[in-house]
Amino acid sequence: MRADPSLIHSQSEVRILAAIRDLLGVAATLDEVAAAALRLCAAMMQADASSLLLRDYDGGYRKFSFVTTEGARDVEHLRLDFGEGIVGAVVEKGLPQVVPDVSRDPRFSERVDTVGGLKAGSVACVPFRVKEGIVGTLEVAKKDAGSLGDKDLELLTALAGSVAVIAENTRVLSEIKDLHDKLEQANRVKAQFLATTSHELRTPINIIIGNLDLLLGGFLGELTARQKDSLRTALRNSGEALNLISSLLDLSRIEAGQFVIRVEEFRLDDVWKELELLFRIGLSGKEVELSWEAKEGLPPLKTDKIKVKEILSNIIFNAVKYTQQGKIEVTAFPLGAGETVQIEVRDTGVGIPKEYLPVIFEPFRQVEGSSPSVHGGVGLGLSIARRLVDLLHGQIVVESELGRGSTFRITLPTKYSA
Ligand SMILES: Nc1ncnc2c1ncn2[C@@H]1O[C@H](COP(=O)(O)OP(=O)(O)OP(=O)(O)O)[C@@H](O)[C@H]1O
Ligand SMILES: [Mg+2]
Repeated sequence: MRADPSLIHSQSEVRILAAIRDLLGVAATLDEVAAAALRLCAAMMQADASSLLLRDYDGGYRKFSFVTTEGARDVEHLRLDFGEGIVGAVVEKGLPQVVPDVSRDPRFSERVDTVGGLKAGSVACVPFRVKEGIVGTLEVAKKDAGSLGDKDLELLTALAGSVAVIAENTRVLSEIKDLHDKLEQANRVKAQFLATTSHELRTPINIIIGNLDLLLGGFLGELTARQKDSLRTALRNSGEALNLISSLLDLSRIEAGQFVIRVEEFRLDDVWKELELLFRIGLSGKEVELSWEAKEGLPPLKTDKIKVKEILSNIIFNAVKYTQQGKIEVTAFPLGAGETVQIEVRDTGVGIPKEYLPVIFEPFRQVEGSSPSVHGGVGLGLSIARRLVDLLHGQIVVESELGRGSTFRITLPTKYSA
C-alpha cells in the first residue's frame, strides 16, 4: 500500500519545524548555523554525510563544511571548479538533483570522496538560495547506491529553504553586531580624545587667568583704565573658555566611564548654602525672587555630594540665565517613605518650545535664538546633569510653557546603592 503523499509532506514539515526550532536555539554565528544545519540534515535523512558548499568569489566552489556519521571531516580547503561535479550542475541549472547511483553518472566528481573519506553510493543535492540568489548547494550522501530518491529530495529542499533563512538572519545580525562594536570603539576613542584634550587645555588657561588676575590686581605695576578694561574682557572670555573646557571634560569623563561615585552623608540645605551666593550674583540687576525650601521630613542624603551639587548648579543656573523677571523657586521634599527625594526647580522665565523638550538633554542642543550670543553657554549643562542623575540612579524630567516658565524635577534615591 502506498503512503498518502500529503501525509508524508506534513510529517516532514513537523519534523523540520521541530528540528529548526532546535537549530535556532543553538546557533549564534554563521559557522554554528552551518554546522548545526549539516548535523540536522544527516540525522533527519539518515545520511552518511552532508555538506554545504558556498560559492567563492573567484567563481569556483568552496567546500564549507562536511559532516559524516563518523564525525566532521575538515575539507575546508578543498575547492571545486566552476561546473565541476553534480553540485556544479545544480548551481548552474538551479534545479534539485537526486542521483540514486553515482557510479552511473559521468558528472560525479570523486575528489570530494577522496578528501572527505566517504565513498558515496547515492547523493541528493539542492540549490542553497538566499536573497541575492543561489550561493551554493546543500547535499546529502549515502554509502549505498539506490538509497536516496525523490522523497528525500523534497525533504532536503524544504530544509535548505529554512536553513537559508536562518543563515541569512544570522549573517545580518552578525553584521549589525560588528557595526555596533565598531561604533562603540569609535565612541570610546572620541571620549578619550576629548578627555585628554580638555584636560591638557585647562592648565594653560588657568595660567592665563592667574596672570590676568595679577595684572588687574596691580601687582605688576599700575595700569590705565583702558588697559584694565581690556584685561577684564580677556579675563571674562578666558573664564568662559575654562567653563566650556571643564564641561567637556566632565562629559567625556562620564562617557568614558571614568567617574567614581564618592558616597557621603549630607543635607541638601548645606548644598544650597554653598551655591546660593553664585546664583544671586547671576541674578544681580534682574527683578527675580529666588527662594529655597526644604519640606518637613526631608532626610539627609547618602550619595555623591559633589555630583548632586553639580546637577543642581546646572539646573538652577539655567533658571537664573533664562528668567528675566518673576521668581525661581527651589523646593526639596521626600517621596514615599523617604527612600527618594525630589528637588523641583520652578522658574517664570522664557520657557522652552514643545518641540525642543525631547532634545534639550542632548549635548550641544539649545533652543534656537536663546543662546549663545544672548545667554552664553554651549548647550552642555543639561546633558551633564542628566548623565550625573543617571549615575546616581535618579531621574530628571521637565515641563515647560513658552513665555511662562519651566519646571525641572529631579528624583534621587536618598541612599545610593551601586
Ligand atoms: N530653565 C530654562 N528655561 C528656558 N530654557 C531653558 C532652561 N533650561 C534649559 N533651557 C534650554 O535648553 C538648552 C540646553 O540647556 P543646557 O543647560 O544644556 O545648555 P546652555 O545653558 O545653553 O549652555 P551651558 O549649560 O553649556 O552653559 C538651553 O540652551 C535653553 O535653550
Ligand atoms: Mg546650562
